[in-house]
Amino acid sequence: MKILVVGGGGREHAIIKKLKENPAAEVIYALPGNGGIARDAVCVNIDAKDIDAITAFACDNKIDYAVVAPDDPLVLGCVDALEAKGISCFGPQKKAAIIEGSKVFSKNLMKKYGIPTAKYEVFDSAEKALEYVKTAPIPTVIKADGLALGKGVIIAMSREEAADAVKQIMQDKKFGASGEHIVIEEFLEGPEVSVLSFTDGKTVVPMISSMDHKRALDGDKGLNTGGMGTIAPNPYYTPDVAKRCMQEIFLPTINAMNSEGRTFKGCLYFGLMITKDGPKVIEYNCRFGDPETQVVLPLLKTDLLTVMQAVTAGTLSEVKVEFSDESACCVVMASDGYPVSYKKGFEINIPDELADNVYVAGAADKDGRLVTSGGRVLGVTAVEKTLKGAIDAAYDMVSKISFENAYYRHDIGKRALAVSEDNGVPRS
Ligand code: AMP
Ligand code: GLY
Repeated sequence: MKILVVGGGGREHAIIKKLKENPAAEVIYALPGNGGIARDAVCVNIDAKDIDAITAFACDNKIDYAVVAPDDPLVLGCVDALEAKGISCFGPQKKAAIIEGSKVFSKNLMKKYGIPTAKYEVFDSAEKALEYVKTAPIPTVIKADGLALGKGVIIAMSREEAADAVKQIMQDKKFGASGEHIVIEEFLEGPEVSVLSFTDGKTVVPMISSMDHKRALDGDKGLNTGGMGTIAPNPYYTPDVAKRCMQEIFLPTINAMNSEGRTFKGCLYFGLMITKDGPKVIEYNCRFGDPETQVVLPLLKTDLLTVMQAVTAGTLSEVKVEFSDESACCVVMASDGYPVSYKKGFEINIPDELADNVYVAGAADKDGRLVTSGGRVLGVTAVEKTLKGAIDAAYDMVSKISFENAYYRHDIGKRALAVSEDNGVPRS
């Protein structure tokens, strides 16, 4: 079977490594992949947003199955284009990917179907938004409508900051067309939980829960990043919370999308906040999270290709999706200066025995050597019986990997460990 994975980060590396476990996966192409992924797949230098080139490649190479992983191609309709050529895909069609592609859409969906989320207002003019922030409760949260590389959310701690954010997004067009509409919403408080789920539009199967660490610096300080590390499972996601999420959020969302004629098939990511009033949706993503995938998939016991194909075929209810009862921790090693500016081109040394635990995000092949080429360079994942064991093992591996200018957080999983009361006792 010839498989194509669109994308080229740590998430795609984790997906590819898992797909490779199935002997039916005779060749996997990554478009564009990266220097590290090249050890596990055939990388072809086609941009993940170049839908025409991706479709042409898939046809020319008689691809049997395609996995479209990143948000941009999904929102642009990559799955629709591939399906139009008869290629079977994992990922939502454009009309369903809008759940991530437009915050105005997703907020209105939640309001219409009574799915718990922060209260909000939508604005299409800077004047009205500026008027509104004069009296809005502070802190207030300002979100550009469209995709903005994860940077389109501003938590304003004062009215001045809020007005500034509105001006930057709507008048200075900091995020381009993404900012033609904005959502201004209530500031929620509570621990955050990421839940990725498989869904074929009828059945929804939540994967093991996880916790991202979005800020650049230890102690959740510094700028927001794409994610500096993850752990799974998330101790805040108790069986009781999980039950409420299924009843109040997961099933209602799948049903709402069906009612809107936008059946979602693929991986639907629920970004949740566990508030004192119960779980609420912070955001939906139409794809696997990064770096959540790097802790969730290593814990998946069921064959990934089988699950994905069941999602595509609409037979997910027939597959028993099982996760290990161990814990996982992923520490991201970045280039110092990320997410603002950083140097690249430094050689990366990864001992051979650690290769299975490393998911490469921003690295290129230079004459047979792996060199840094991005902000987030790689993620190192350990799976152990306990969360503490996984954290210790991940940091032990990090200490054995080196490149000039490397930076990583030292406290991935610390907060989870404090609440999980898991100090070396097996989880199960
Ligand atoms: P996003 O880029 O949508 O993942 O948002 C980035 C981060 O902003 C989230 O992970 C939350 O920590 C925070 N955030 C977003 N919306 C809210 C909200 N309504 N209240 C509090 N924090 C929020
Ligand atoms: N880690 C957050 C995301 O993938 O959006």
